[in-house]
Amino acid sequence: MNGDVLLTCPDLGLPLVHRGKVREMFDLGDRLLMVATDRLSAFDVVFPTGIPGKGRVLTELSVLWFRATESIVPNHVVTTSVAGLGLRPEHEALLAGRSVVVRRARRIDVECVVRGYLAGSGWKEYRQTGAVCGVKLPAGLSLNARLPEPIFTPALKNDVGHDENVTLDEVARRFGQETAFRLRDLSLALYRFAAERAERAGILLADTKLEFGWDGDRLILIDEAFTPDSSRYWPVERYRVGEPIDSLDKQPIRDWAEASGWNKEPPAPPLPPDRVAETAARYRSVLERLRPVLS
Ligand SMILES: Nc1ncnc2c1ncn2[C@@H]1O[C@H](COP(=O)(O)OP(=O)(O)O)[C@@H](O)[C@H]1O
Ligand SMILES: [Mg+2]
Repeated sequence: MNGDVLLTCPDLGLPLVHRGKVREMFDLGDRLLMVATDRLSAFDVVFPTGIPGKGRVLTELSVLWFRATESIVPNHVVTTSVAGLGLRPEHEALLAGRSVVVRRARRIDVECVVRGYLAGSGWKEYRQTGAVCGVKLPAGLSLNARLPEPIFTPALKNDVGHDENVTLDEVARRFGQETAFRLRDLSLALYRFAAERAERAGILLADTKLEFGWDGDRLILIDEAFTPDSSRYWPVERYRVGEPIDSLDKQPIRDWAEASGWNKEPPAPPLPPDRVAETAARYRSVLERLRPVLS
């Protein structure tokens, strides 16, 4: 069963709290069982074809990063063991390696994005305004340029539709200045740590998205950490300024989708097997490159 692609969790006998694009969260009282499926989304739409191994890669990588960053900020991980939850043996096998029992947090609805390089929506906004989320940048920067300093470029989480880039001031207005500053400082510290570790493995961490929540009165890191779904990873040897870089994530799917003529509205088309295999290999390669610098 472990080799199978998991698109949707079967009925585990636990109440489903939330089905996200990739993860399913089950109610364990003050904890949640977080299951990473092999679903893939692009342009905020989930594809009907899964990526073999993806859920396990996301889970192992996140747990490695959560452990490595514990001294910077506590996180939601309780255990990766699914024993003792009263699950049926076949469900335990299905969930092994793709599940984490986590502390249920009160999520702060901000995507804490940090950028070390000018790519993606950051590049688009910079070209139009010379700034990203209100952070003014030097003039004349090119696509993928390394920024003088990593910058915090938050976005409001929208459960429907796309996330909305905002300034730090807007985060402060909504969540309080103290919380806003802590989110910024922690995100920047986590990014610096992860970017330095990733460089040791020959990968540049161009940008990343983090989520935080309240565990009682304690601010903790939740969701996933520095996976190819939440981060833009570039192999050092492919880095160049002024041209797009083929990143170590779902880029083969994005490129295929752009060329296919699909209008990016649901339902998404099934994915061709060669793109699925290439994407699975990229996710695996990130894990394999990072494991030695994180273990
Ligand atoms: N410890 C936690 N407590 C509460 N909510 C969490 C926790 N960790 C993650 N979440 C939320 O669970 C969901 C994970 O599912 P995912 O498939 O990643 O969703 P999305 O489609 O929003 O990215 C996200 O909405 C995330 O904010
Ligand atoms: Mg998510």
